This record gives sequence, C-alpha cells and structure tokens, in this order.
Amino acid sequence: MQITSAIFKCSSAKLSQVPRDLPEFAFIGRSNVGKSSLLNMLVGQKGLAKVSATPGKTRLINHFLINDAWYLVDLPGYGYARASKSIREQFSKLIRDYVTKSEQMQLLFVLVDSRLEPQRIDLEFIELLGEQGIPFGIVFTKCDKLSSSALASSMARYKRKLLESWEELPPIFISSSEKKQGRDEILDFIENCLP
Ligand code: GTP
Ligand code: MG
Repeated sequence: MQITSAIFKCSSAKLSQVPRDLPEFAFIGRSNVGKSSLLNMLVGQKGLAKVSATPGKTRLINHFLINDAWYLVDLPGYGYARASKSIREQFSKLIRDYVTKSEQMQLLFVLVDSRLEPQRIDLEFIELLGEQGIPFGIVFTKCDKLSSSALASSMARYKRKLLESWEELPPIFISSSEKKQGRDEILDFIENCLP
C-alpha cells in the first residue's frame, strides 16, 4: 500500500475524546520499545510522532490520519517503572479503556523488543487480549540490533513461549525503524484488514 498522506489528527486523554469516524490500527508495548519510531517509519516522516530515548515519551492516545481513510494510533507505553504509581495507574486505565472499548480498532500491534526474552508484562497483556477476543499481531522491533541468527533464535524462543498457551500463532512481523525493515509487510497486512 502507498502512503499518500499522513497527518496528526488529535491527542486524547480519555476514551470519550477518541475519534470514531474511521477504522484504526494501534501500536502498543512497553515504554521505549519503538512504537512511535515504527509509526514514523511506516509513513515515511521522521518527526510525525514524537520519539525519545527516555521511556514514557508518549502519554496520550495520538491519532494520525492516513490517506484520508484510516488512522494509525500511537499509544503510551506500559510498564514504565519510573513514573509515579498514580500516573502509571492512569496510563494503564487509559490503555485498558482504549484497547477493550474502542469501537474502530481493527487490529492492535503489540511491539516487543527482538533482543529480549519474552517479558512477563507482555505475555500478561497478550493473555488479556486473548480473554477479551481482541485481534492482535506481534511486531519484533529493533531487529537491526541483532545478527540474523540471533534474531531467528530469539523469534523461535518467543513462538515456543506463545505456543504454550495458544493453539495458533498470531500474525508476526519483524521490523527495524532504523533500517526501514518490515514496512511493506505491515502496510500490506493493514490494507488487507481494512473494511
Ligand atoms: P514511549 O512513547 O516512551 O512508550 O516509547 P516508544 O515505544 O514510542 O519508543 P520510541 O519510538 O520513542 O523509541 C525509543 C528509542 O528506541 C529511541 O531512542 C529510538 O531511536 C529507538 N528505536 C526505536 N526503534 C528502533 C529501531 O528499529 N532500531 C534502533 N536501533 N533503535 C530504535
Ligand atoms: Mg512513543
């Protein structure tokens, strides 16, 4: 799919503010995993979503209008230990509300760092998606930081872990925002999911 336009639409601090007019695809995952960077890479605009080396950069639900037809949604990260507890709770309520109640979300991309072994917080989150019947895919990020053999074994380990609780694997993507890897696969997948 070609991206002909990508513009910032709005930031929402609660679910009632979220647009409901068009289908949307959202990025979620631990703080600093590379959600905002992936969005920028997909649309080919470096500074569209704000990126930072410090975890906790994205704090609101950000909608970006793509091709005047659908939204990419950049969500705050979860598991940001340095935020005060009340802020963390607020984030997780915002995330939980959006993920479980948004009416237009077609698919949620759960981003996981390709370098790390399966993290409990991600597995718990994926478990929640399963219980709620929320359609999701997994995107391995920052794969430029691994050799191809290390990446292959890291992915195999992740799949084995998922198969302990799932009969079937979800759609899985490999990405590097640095090397612009995974772009066509993710955009083509989105195109096929559009209603
Ligand atoms: P929060 O908004 O804080 O939850 O973080 P985020 O998930 O949006 O991460 P963000 O895109 O801000 O990236 C975090 C850091 O990881 C930044 O320093 C990025 O430059 C870096 N980064 C993101 N994607 C990649 C990648 O594919 N490769 C490499 N090498 N670095 C990346
Ligand atoms: Mg972000």
